[in-house]
Amino acid sequence: MSTAHIRPATVADAGILADLGARTFRETFAAICSPEDLACYVAGAYGEAVQAAELADPDRPGLVLEVDGLPAGFVQMRFGHREPGVPGSRPAELQRIYVLRAHHRGGWGTALMAAGTGLARAWGADVLWLGVWEHNDRALAFYARHGFREVGEHIFRIGGQVDRDLILAKGLA
Ligand SMILES: CC(C)(COP(=O)(O)OP(=O)(O)OC[C@H]1O[C@@H](n2cnc3c(N)ncnc32)[C@H](O)[C@@H]1OP(=O)(O)O)[C@@H](O)C(=O)NCCC(=O)NCCS
Repeated sequence: MSTAHIRPATVADAGILADLGARTFRETFAAICSPEDLACYVAGAYGEAVQAAELADPDRPGLVLEVDGLPAGFVQMRFGHREPGVPGSRPAELQRIYVLRAHHRGGWGTALMAAGTGLARAWGADVLWLGVWEHNDRALAFYARHGFREVGEHIFRIGGQVDRDLILAKGLA
């Protein structure tokens, strides 16, 4: 039986998050993006320096999931930022939640969701929100299971590709 542990990410984890981010993003979107667009997006969003800068920001805390001692997923929060349509007065974004495919459906995503929600509550958030690609059915089912509802949409660019993301939100009162 696997053992899992969720711990706060520090700036020293920038390399781990960059690697996990690139791997999980490729696993999720390789089938729908050109290799060029994917490489361009991953290099910009998941470089180690980018992760280090985000982790150094107290309003962008991250958590790392380790399964049997190895990094297997992460969640990154972003406090005090919102998209149009997001209700509430103190919004927290669940900016990224990613579990390596080999560990899907084991309840780890739910554990990361609970831990990220705990950080948001501790910060005083009254609403949790996120953006998700409109055709990411797995993630949409996961968010529905966790009580999120659609409140808006925005455009998401991966290299030259333009997609529609749904904005989902959930009250924390
Ligand atoms: C979304 C994600 C984080 C879910 O993680 P997970 O560890 O597989 O989720 P859990 O095992 O905790 O699943 C909880 C519930 O979500 C729903 N769910 C999760 N994956 C699902 C799927 N493929 N199909 C239908 N429902 C699903 C189910 O209700 C599930 O409960 P159940 O297994 O008891 O039926 C994971 O699939 C992932 O990392 N995907 C790739 C990255 C991604 O798309 N991230 C979101 C970007 S916005």
